[in-house]
Amino acid sequence: MNAIEIKELTKKYKDFTAVDKLDLTIGEGELFGLLGVNGAGKTTTIKMLSCLSKPTSGTAVLMGNSITEKPDEVKKIISISTQETAVAPNLTVRENLEFIAKIYSVPDPKAAADNVIADFSLGEKENARTKTLSGGWQRKVSIAMALITSPQILFLDEPTLGLDVLARRELWNVIRQLKSKMTIILTTHYLEEAEALCDRIAIMTSGKLRAIGTAEELKQLAGKESFEDAFIEIAENAGKEEIK
Ligand SMILES: Nc1ncnc2c1ncn2[C@@H]1O[C@H](COP(=O)(O)OP(=O)(O)OP(=O)(O)O)[C@@H](O)[C@H]1O
Ligand SMILES: [Mg+2]
Repeated sequence: MNAIEIKELTKKYKDFTAVDKLDLTIGEGELFGLLGVNGAGKTTTIKMLSCLSKPTSGTAVLMGNSITEKPDEVKKIISISTQETAVAPNLTVRENLEFIAKIYSVPDPKAAADNVIADFSLGEKENARTKTLSGGWQRKVSIAMALITSPQILFLDEPTLGLDVLARRELWNVIRQLKSKMTIILTTHYLEEAEALCDRIAIMTSGKLRAIGTAEELKQLAGKESFEDAFIEIAENAGKEEIK
């Protein structure tokens, strides 16, 4: 079954089109990378898919539920973690997790917190107030908070932004552990991250999909040996002709 079917999804701000008739299908259990230069429309796409923003036209169906017709059903099966995802600074790691579990009516908040604390190796910091944690730890807590509701689809918008190499690699391992347990859409500007983690990758510019495939396929398509060169080739030539 397809986890996500995006059909002509469009977002306009006044006369500016941020996402332009996006068509895309993502399979269940897939770890899908959404790449593109600043302003390409990645976050806008994720906001529409997670029902935080209404499409101007078009729609998407997530696990059989339309974002335009059944947003309440969609919200039950998704989670989102963004750079801005609020961890309450004065609550401890455990309190943050149990708080979110309660808001989302998870049956046993304490047990749910125990599980993600174990999965994410958060034990040594579970009683620390989150404001005392480093950025990398806060990102881990933020992703753990997104997972406490056991979502079927997880959106990770630039999960490793600003992290040092070691913290980033650690988060890669966390993300790899989630792989195939749920469908994941990830955005990143770190191309080696997309190449290392993603089953398939889409490259967007100016709200349009320019190319889609595995990292290997995109390299072949662009005729480049490195994924970074392939990305540059595709992003720079976007608009001249549609590469698919
Ligand atoms: N609320 C808004 N009002 C007007 N324009 C907006 C609004 N939100 C986003 N945009 C514009 O839509 C375009 C796409 O923005 P979006 O945040 O989706 O890009 P992005 O691909 O996530 O970029 P980045 O890599 O920098 O995060 C940008 O040109 C942005 O300025
Ligand atoms: Mg963004």
